[in-house]
Order: sequence, then C-alpha cells, then structure tokens
Amino acid sequence: MRVGVWRETPSERRLPVLPEYVLKLQQLGLQVLIERGLGESIFLPDEAYQQAGARIVPDKSALLAEADILLSLETPDVSRFPQATGKVLIGHLNIWRHPKRLDALSKQGWTVFALEKLPRITRAQSMDVLSSMAALAGYKAVLLAAVEYGRVMPMLTTAAGTLAPARVLVIGAGVAGLQAIATARRLGARVEAYDVRPAAREQVESLGAKFLDLLPDLKAEGAGGYARPLTEEEQARQKAALENAIAEVDILITTAAVPGRPAPKIVTSQALRRMKPGSVVVDLAAETGGNCEDTIPGQTQSIQGITLIAPINLPSTLPLHASQMLARNFYEFLRLFSREGTFTLHRDDEILAATCLLWQGQPTETKQPA
Ligand SMILES: NC(=O)c1ccc[n+]([C@@H]2O[C@H](COP(=O)([O-])OP(=O)(O)OC[C@H]3O[C@@H](n4cnc5c(N)ncnc54)[C@H](O)[C@@H]3O)[C@@H](O)[C@H]2O)c1
Repeated sequence: MRVGVWRETPSERRLPVLPEYVLKLQQLGLQVLIERGLGESIFLPDEAYQQAGARIVPDKSALLAEADILLSLETPDVSRFPQATGKVLIGHLNIWRHPKRLDALSKQGWTVFALEKLPRITRAQSMDVLSSMAALAGYKAVLLAAVEYGRVMPMLTTAAGTLAPARVLVIGAGVAGLQAIATARRLGARVEAYDVRPAAREQVESLGAKFLDLLPDLKAEGAGGYARPLTEEEQARQKAALENAIAEVDILITTAAVPGRPAPKIVTSQALRRMKPGSVVVDLAAETGGNCEDTIPGQTQSIQGITLIAPINLPSTLPLHASQMLARNFYEFLRLFSREGTFTLHRDDEILAATCLLWQGQPTETKQPA
C-alpha cells in the first residue's frame, strides 16, 4: 500500500512524516509518496525524503491518484478531487472546523481516522497527538507571555536593587497546563495553578507550584480522567472564587477544556479588567472558543492595558519539534494496521474503533466507545 503526504495550507508548518519515518514505514511494507516541497517549512529538501526512499510527486492530484492512505493535519476538501474515492484518511483532523468536508469524504467512500479521538490509554500513548501538541502549546504560551510582559520573570537581586518575580496563574492543569507550569517555573516565576480534578493537585505540587484550593468541595473528575462539565451553579461559584486570584497575578495562562464541548468560560470580563495594567493573559483554549469571555480566537487585544493573547495552532510555531512528535505519533498509529508484513484494517481494535469516523463512507460514530 502507498501512503501519501501532501502540503497543507501555508500557515500549517508541521509535518506528519519525516525522512527517518519514511524508512520505518517501508519496513512495515508501505511505500511513501510526498508532494513536492513538503519539507520547506522546516528547511528539509525533497532530496532528504528521496534519499530515505520516498517518491516525490508534483501535486495533490498526482498524489491522490496513487496513494491508498492520505496523512493530514486538517480535514482535506476531497470534493476538489472527485476521482479520489475509497481511500483511507488518517489525520489530526479537527473535524468540527469543517463538518461539510466530512460529508464529501463520506460521499466518496473514504475510511477516516481522527487521531484526536484516541482513547487516553497506555497503549495509545505513543500515538497521542493531543498530548504531543498540548505539551508544545503549554511551553510556547509561557514564552509568548514572557515576551509581552514588560518585566522580568525571575527574582533578580542586583546592585541596583531587587526585582520581584512575576506571579503566574495557570487555570487547567492537564498536559498543556503542566508544561506551562514547568516552563514558568524554569523562568523563575512564582506559579500557582487551579483545576477541577483533585488528581491535578499532586502533579502541580510536584512541579514546585502552589495548588489553589479555591473550592475544595467542587470536584469534577469525569470519565477517562477528563473533567466533566460544571453545572450552572458550579460555574457561577467558580467564576466568583477565581476573580480575586486572577486580580493578583501578572500572567494568566488558561487551558481548561472539556472533551467534545466548547471551552468553559471561566474568566469573566469583569475578572479580566480587575487585573493590573501591564498584565498578560494567554488563552490556550482559544481554538474551542476560549476560557475568557473577551477572547477573540486568533487575535491579540489590549484591554485597559491588559494584553489578551488568543493563539491558534501554537505548535505550528515550533514546526521541527512538532513534526518530530507528530511523525512518531502517526507512525505508531500506522503500525497498528500492519501485522507480519501485511497491511490490513483491523476494525475491531479498540484504538481503531475509537478513532474511526467513517468506514468506507459510512459514519461509525454510534459504534464508538463513549
Ligand atoms: N495516555 C494517557 O494516559 C494520557 C495522556 C494524556 C492525558 N491524560 C490524562 O487525561 C486527562 C486530561 O488531560 P488533557 O490535558 O487532555 O485535558 P484537557 O485538554 O481536556 O483539559 C485541560 C485541563 O482543564 C481542566 N478543566 C476542565 N474544566 C475546567 C474548569 N472548569 N476549571 C478548571 N479546570 C478545568 C481539566 O481538568 C484538564 O486538566 C488528564 O487526567 C491527563 O493526565 C492521560
């Protein structure tokens, strides 16, 4: 079988395959086709892929004419290629951004796997694109904040006096939040964090940050280790309890998410405006609507002297490391299909069942585990 990788939009600098994985895919019995210029975003010439054994094709039509499996970091619009039918798509698809594109894939009889639907189980860890990208986003969020913040992060004792460390609050201590905490600590900030899952406390404290126990009776651990949505009454209590904590910090990083839902609005307009002028907020939940009422996804705003940054696809700003992680994640997923040199879609596999959105054009959502 042939695996094809094409160039995404110009703003997408990450890649799902690197030359070292072309070799590994061949060992699984897969040939690799690469659209010309794929590696430009990380300064990789076509020759690097060729030397690893990939074949370079001139454009997307040529790629789809030959590939059996397409790897992608977005849901592709296959209606532009009506002749491409019955193929397999594997991707970090963010399908909610383009629901109509799923219809086209269905009409054209594609089988579609969305890696963001992977179950958070030990066997799937090496394929976990969400964790890979969340770790990078958490790291970069703190750097963005540090650059925007007009002061230093660590305490500095100098001949000209002592400078106070920045105070950082991280709301949501999942993969991104924990990496944000670790990064802010490395930069010397005084870090506090808050989460609704009690299990987060130990992880926060192990990174040397203080866990804010604002509402000890509000515990919202849901299925699969994720948070459950809060009731309206719980949300109101949370917003009120967080307001004072938010007003005291210099940098706020928000990462709170509930799977399959828009991001919870945790930081009210009033709470944001109580921060000191010169403070910085990075809303990492911007892609799913944001944790701040004022967030406009993709935009940076100045609100009464407070900078609110709401980045989209932050991992794409670290394209080499993001690609290294994604290439490993995609390879491990592809390895699931391959058994003893043959390549078959084992639909009964727990991981494949959870990630499969379409099977030969037919929606499978109802058959997926909850
Ligand atoms: N393979 C694995 O075993 C594996 C891999 C990655 C993550 N995990 C686990 O999965 C869980 C989710 O991690 P994630 O980073 O994907 O989470 P996520 O991106 O879904 O959410 C980010 C954080 O926001 C928190 N949150 C949600 N609503 C909130 C609210 N109203 N107020 C404050 N915080 C709120 C969540 O508890 C979570 O910690 C964690 O327990 C993590 O350890 C397991």
